Amino acid sequence: MNIIRYKDLNIYNDYTKQPQILEKIKNLLKNKDDFVSINPFAGMNKLTKINNDINKAYNTEYQLDALDFLKNIKDESVDLVIYDPPYNITRLIKYFDDLNIKRKLYHTRTQYWTFLKTEISRIIKSNGCVISIGYNSGGIGKKNGFKTVDIIVINNKTKNDIYCLIENKI
Ligand SMILES: C[S@@+](CC[C@H](N)C(=O)[O-])C[C@H]1O[C@@H](n2cnc3c(N)ncnc32)[C@H](O)[C@@H]1O
Repeated sequence: MNIIRYKDLNIYNDYTKQPQILEKIKNLLKNKDDFVSINPFAGMNKLTKINNDINKAYNTEYQLDALDFLKNIKDESVDLVIYDPPYNITRLIKYFDDLNIKRKLYHTRTQYWTFLKTEISRIIKSNGCVISIGYNSGGIGKKNGFKTVDIIVINNKTKNDIYCLIENKI
């Protein structure tokens, strides 16, 4: 496993503004027709082939809750997932409330992350890749059948570190 730490950089909430992460993602996204890449929380970032975002303003191909989006995908059919969920449950709830979208009880509990990870593990092909971005190095995890290959840490004195974890399905 490689751990790369970049110190004292400006931290942005949007990982695509972080050149060290963006370059890594672009290298992993293969430009082949049959390479299936998805992003369940895409926002304005359309780096992957299939994008989903609950906010219709982003004009993504799918506009569902990320869990419903993932549930509609066939087993072992995806090569790469970009996983950049809201950083915590409070932010997740705020997205629903700001958009006036009805939420379920599990959207207010951390079990939501567990459900998402189970779905990601199910849809990824063997040797497929997940790029997780967040405030911790949790990723999809060993217990879901993944091994970490790279960790990029963007460190700043005044804000939280941002972790970008690259994992492969074993
Ligand atoms: C990339 S994520 C989170 C970015 C950053 N990690 C943060 O916490 O601010 C932000 C995007 O996810 C979308 N989003 C939020 N909740 C969602 C959900 N339940 N399903 C799908 N998309 C969602 C938002 O509309 C937004 O465009």
